[in-house]
Amino acid sequence: MKGKHIYFIFIIFIVACAVQPSSKIKSLEGSSKDYQTYIKKEFIRGEVLYKKYCASCHGIFGPGNADAPNFTSIQLHNYNAAFIRSDKENHAVAQGLDDESFQSIMTFLSYRLP
Ligand code: HEC
Repeated sequence: MKGKHIYFIFIIFIVACAVQPSSKIKSLEGSSKDYQTYIKKEFIRGEVLYKKYCASCHGIFGPGNADAPNFTSIQLHNYNAAFIRSDKENHAVAQGLDDESFQSIMTFLSYRLP
């Protein structure tokens, strides 16, 4: 009986870890509850997509390649603009990311605490 309890607690722990983003999000204090909920959802989704499409070259979750930059807000802005105008040089365009996935990644990168 006792053994089963421990097993159950362990499962809860694993599930709780799985739904938490591993990155910290900037404070959303002062924004409406709806906006906060929306951004948090996008942030979690963006983190998963970032790991899938970007982390092989860029840092955050690993060392990253030396020639791939860390993200300043200006770089993110330029990157976003390049995506919107479907610039073939933009690697999210090159990877065929859809608008929603791209915006989630941008939300993740913009709201992430370094
Ligand atoms: C194959 C490796 C690779 C992958 C995958 C990759 N990048 Fe990059 N990224 C680079 C390199 C190298 C540079 C620097 C040269 C350049 O600007 O193209 C760069 C530059 C950037 C810049 C700076 C652009 C600027 O205008 O200053 C941003 C922002 C960026 N990447 C975001 C992303 C995002 C978001 C993803 C995932 C959708 C991603 N990258 C996937 C290699 C990669």
